[in-house]
Formats: sequence, C-alpha cells, structure tokens
Amino acid sequence: MSNAKHPAEPFKIKMVEPLNITTEEQRKKALEEAGYNPFLLKSKDVYIDLLTDSGTGAMSDNQWAGLMLGDESYAGSRNYYNICDAVKDIFEYNYVVPTHQGRGAEQVLFPLLLTQGQYVCSNFHFDTTKAHVELSGAKARNFLIPQATDTGTYYDFKGNFNIPALEAFIEEVGAEHVAFFIMTVTNNSAGGQPVSMANLKELRKVADRYGKRIVMDSARFAENAMFIKKREAGYEHISVKDIIKEMYSYADMLTMSAKKDAIVNMGGMIAIKNDEDIFRGAQARCVPLEGFATYGGLSGRDMEALARGLYEGIDENYLEYRLGQVKYLGDRLMEIGVPIQYPTGGHAVFVDAKKILPHIPGEQFPAQAICNALYLISGVRPVEIGSFLLGRNPQTGKQEESPLELVRLTIPRRVYTQSHMDQIVEGFQKVMERKNELVGLTFDYEPAVLRHFLARLRPLDSK
Ligand code: F0G
Repeated sequence: MSNAKHPAEPFKIKMVEPLNITTEEQRKKALEEAGYNPFLLKSKDVYIDLLTDSGTGAMSDNQWAGLMLGDESYAGSRNYYNICDAVKDIFEYNYVVPTHQGRGAEQVLFPLLLTQGQYVCSNFHFDTTKAHVELSGAKARNFLIPQATDTGTYYDFKGNFNIPALEAFIEEVGAEHVAFFIMTVTNNSAGGQPVSMANLKELRKVADRYGKRIVMDSARFAENAMFIKKREAGYEHISVKDIIKEMYSYADMLTMSAKKDAIVNMGGMIAIKNDEDIFRGAQARCVPLEGFATYGGLSGRDMEALARGLYEGIDENYLEYRLGQVKYLGDRLMEIGVPIQYPTGGHAVFVDAKKILPHIPGEQFPAQAICNALYLISGVRPVEIGSFLLGRNPQTGKQEESPLELVRLTIPRRVYTQSHMDQIVEGFQKVMERKNELVGLTFDYEPAVLRHFLARLRPLDSK
C-alpha cells in the first residue's frame, strides 16, 4: 500500500480524447521503425505521452470560448490588448511583443541586447535559448549551484543562479565582455527546480553593480512562484500573484513560451518593464521574423486563449494540484526504488539513469535505453536529457560528458489522471525488474546539429 497522496483535480472533464492501446509486439515494431528514438514515434503508437509539457496542456472551457472572440484584424487586434492588460496586471510590465512561441521571442530580442563575442550568463540556458545566444554571435555560460547535480539530496531551491561563480567569472573576463543575464524560472534543465526570491534579489544587486540587464526566461513562472510560497520563509501568506509581481520587479524584461504555464497549444511573447528603446527595437525585428507587432505569428483567437491562460496558470488551487500531481508520481517512484532528482520539480519527474544502469557508459546513452524500455513495456513515451541530447564538442567532435543522465517524465497540464500516474509507476516497476538486460545504443544516423531530434539508433549486441 502506498503512502503517496494524489491531489484531487480542481476541474471536471467535459470532453475526452481516446487513447490508443497497443501490444508490446506492436510497440517493438514501432520502436524499430523509429530508430530507437522516441522523437520519431508516431503519436498514435503512444499511450501516455510524457515527451514534453510544452503545448500539450488541456485548455479550459473559458479558453475555448475565448477562441470565438478572436479578432483576426491584421493590426491592432483587441486580443493583443487583452494580453497587454493581463501582463500589466500580473507582471507590471508596460510593453508586449507577441511571438509564435518562446524561441520566437528569443530570436527577436537577443540581438538587441548584445554585441558579437560577448558572454550571456544564465542559471541554465534551455537548448533553444543557448542556440539563439550563439546564433546572435555571443557565448552562453551556465552557472548552476552544486546542489543541482546532487540528485539524491533535498534542497529547496536547486534552480538557483550560482552568484559567487558568476561574480568570479565577470571579474575574470571583464564586465564589458558580459552582455546580460538570463534567469530561467523554473530551471528546466536542472529538473524543473525553482529559484528563490532571495536568489533573484541577489542577482539584481550584481546586475546593478555591473550595469547589466536581467531577462527572465518565463516558461514556468507560475510554478516557480508557487514553490516560493510553499518553501521560502515569509511568503507562505502572500498570494502567488503578489509573489510574481515581486519576482518580476527584480528583472527588466521577459521572454515567455506560453505553451507551458499559460496553458496554450501555441504562443509566446516578449514583455518589457519600461525600456522603450528595446521595445521599439523588438517591434521592428518582430515584423520580418514573426509577423506584425500586434500579432507576432499568432491568430487573434490564439492570443485570446493566451490572455485567459495567464490567469488560469496562476490560480492557486490549480497550482496546488499541479505540483501535487508531479510530487505524487515522484513519491511513488521513490517507493519502488527508482532514483530521481529530489525533490521533484514543477513540470516533470527526472529519473537518474546513471544510478539505475551503472554498467552502460554515457556515450552509449543509458537514459535513452530506459526511455525505450519504458515505451516498450508500457507505451509511455519519456524523453532523454543526457549525453544523447548534449551531443559532441563542435571543435573536437568528441562526445561531451553530461554531468547527469536523466529520463524526463514530463507531465502535460490538466491532461492525465491519477490512474495514468499509477500506470507509469507500474511500467517503471517492470523496467527496474529487467534493468540488467538493458543494453546501450549506437548511431545508425547522426545529424550534425541538434541530433537528438532526428537521429536513428540501434541497440548494441543484445545479450
Ligand atoms: N525556455 C525554456 C525554459 C523552455 O523550457 C523552452 C521550451 C523554451 C524556452 C522554448 O520555448 O518551445 O515555446 O519555443 N521547452 C520545451 C521542453 C520544448 O520540452 O522543455 P518554445
């Protein structure tokens, strides 16, 4: 009997989408055809899809109703102004440039904030964020705290920016070679781990001392705020909305993938506190890259769903359920002896594959072996966050060594129920029973860039 408690859903189901039930024989064939890379599976062959929480959430009746109020005017759509009003109300930022998703915001904004050869410093750049820093001619540097890679030990704010390491770096390279800071909330790549208010305040002090701007990478801003409310002394009686206001008072602007905490299937934005020059620059770049400055690649109806989603994402009953569901899955996995990044983050449970498969070296992708085994056994599709994703050193061509080999079980918002969580645990139980039979993987086809999306693999001589 498990002690883990699943929170009751603060919603009921109005519409259902059937799931395909497949046999292990069918999944074996599907996996072979997909080159042992879950990204290449057809979704019809997947039972529970934990590839990402991005754009996979369920919109509410209120959001669907909003679609009917889409104003598809090329310029000045009322739905754009509804986003502006929501942003002003929640973040207290004055200017908004909508974009088709998070990476659209990155490509529009970053070139305005840097000069060639400068460094951009972050607690952890998401893959596309790093790619856009590099495409703009700058270099991306991450400053994780040591607790972030110690998966088994509890720490409240494993997502924090390592401020002493940042200061030492600035002193070493010279402040003029640093462009700006990116604070990612929550810290996706470290396991959806939150950043504390104290850490945000500290970063502001450093930014002021060196005259640098702070961009908040805001995909999971609401989950981060809820963690502050639950874990940081002095915030337990403050509303999530007020916590968000304080968080954003320490930054200058934000980029957002609205596909996460704003619970839409597509959408993103740049918002700016009060720097009018940057706003004008972002509007001008938006036009050729994303679309006119009041739609940025989105339909009017999509913008309406986004404006409404911003409020649904910060609802505290929803957030209690959201963090509780992820914790439930993590707790149940720990009960059956699965090592995870502890405590669980906001959007996913990250399983430590290195600890489960010490016999498979990083260059043979142990986390990918577990992803494939879980799919084969249960039809659940997770995603690898480890050496397979990290890739090769562009200079030497050698496989980089990843500090962590993780299997990410990413939970879409308002989509799956407690029984689905229990199915995932049952699947994992069987993976653990068969772990000694699992073998590493090697490439059949390896694309030169962002290889993990399209690569084809094969298992090394099965026993
Ligand atoms: N920043 C963070 C922290 C992200 O997690 C993502 C996307 C982006 C930016 C880019 O946003 O996808 O809308 O262009 N993360 C997804 C994931 C894809 O699976 O973690 P996007």
